[in-house]
Amino acid sequence: MSNVKDMGLAKEGHMKMEWAKNHMPVLASIREEFKKTKPFKGIKLGMALHLEAKTAILAETLMEGGAEIIITGCNPLSTQDDVAAACVERGMEVYAWRGETNEEYYENLNKVLDAKPDVVIDDGADLIFLLHTKRTELLDSIMGGCEETTTGVIRLKAMAQEGALKFPVINVNDADTKHLFDNRYGTGQSALDGVLRTTNLLMAGKTVVVAGYGWCGRGVAMRADGHGANVIVTEVDPIRALEARMDGYQVMPMCEACKLGDVFITTTGCKDILRTEHFLLMKDGAVLSNAGHFDNEINKNNLNELASEVNVVRNNIEEYKVNNKRIYLLGEGRLVNLACADGHPCEVMDMSFANQALGAKNIVENSKNMENKVYEIPYEQDAKIALLKLKSMGSEIDELTPEQKKYLNDWKEGT
Ligand code: ADE
Repeated sequence: MSNVKDMGLAKEGHMKMEWAKNHMPVLASIREEFKKTKPFKGIKLGMALHLEAKTAILAETLMEGGAEIIITGCNPLSTQDDVAAACVERGMEVYAWRGETNEEYYENLNKVLDAKPDVVIDDGADLIFLLHTKRTELLDSIMGGCEETTTGVIRLKAMAQEGALKFPVINVNDADTKHLFDNRYGTGQSALDGVLRTTNLLMAGKTVVVAGYGWCGRGVAMRADGHGANVIVTEVDPIRALEARMDGYQVMPMCEACKLGDVFITTTGCKDILRTEHFLLMKDGAVLSNAGHFDNEINKNNLNELASEVNVVRNNIEEYKVNNKRIYLLGEGRLVNLACADGHPCEVMDMSFANQALGAKNIVENSKNMENKVYEIPYEQDAKIALLKLKSMGSEIDELTPEQKKYLNDWKEGT
């Protein structure tokens, strides 16, 4: 029933999964809980996530909790074919391969929905969007969903605002144990990893332009700085721009930054961040990469229109010749950390996916009493995950004494 590139790759996929599993202690403790309580007994989970080793461990954790798993990717270039094959061998129904065409990508999302899932787990909201547009016949049978990323949450909140959202969705992205770590330290490390692995170039002494200073941009700027790069931040939000300036970076509009950058990393969640007017002013040899969810931050149509020639010059690097200058695009402008590397580190996805696992359990247990809106993760879940993570790292924290608790709650006590 599954459709993957090559089942012969499964052995390598199993090794990657075991490595990831051994570095995801929070998810391991949730798995032990799920094995005993089987919260997903009789439940079909439809998943559209970046199908690499950590995601596979999330899916396996949910399976151990009794779920039937039907899974596809959430980006045509982020599936790891060896992991997809290993997932089939571990009993999941899988429809995904690296390098899907746009048409194949949607066919695979539809395959997941053909299985009539009870709960959906999404990254970017393409699966949920499809349910609300072309597969509305399934809406009544969906208990709810979970969404992984900033871009997806923005789409879902807009749907909820218009009354268009037809089931409850848990906002995993905004849990503190997700975005403060995954978006910041995860993207910070993995986006740089993607650029460095793909180009084998030196960061020290380069000018790196980071577009956007949300949690992802902060992480990327911090890590590029740590590599000895001269970091320029571009922003549209004055408060974020001010923060970037006081964090020690140069801040300027892209029409200036584009003349100075050696490496560009977009992290905005918005389209056309790099476009014709910028390409024309770039230096010879500029390297362009995107760490946002969709491949529209770097306008590839504009690049193609300008280019007299386009050549693949190294794995995952296309060279665009623009007015005798060379502009290099990494991973087709898709998420550089997943298209050109292995995604976020295991220890970070450990917390993100612990939130997904507990979020899905919450939907199964409570969907009947939930409204068709976007729900935030409760503090208790965040705190539980943070404590488990701290424990796995060998750190303990203090507790308030009864006197301190009383002091904090008693507004009459004063100093
Ligand atoms: N691995 C799995 N999902 C991911 C995500 N959303 N970002 C980075 N790495 C991932």
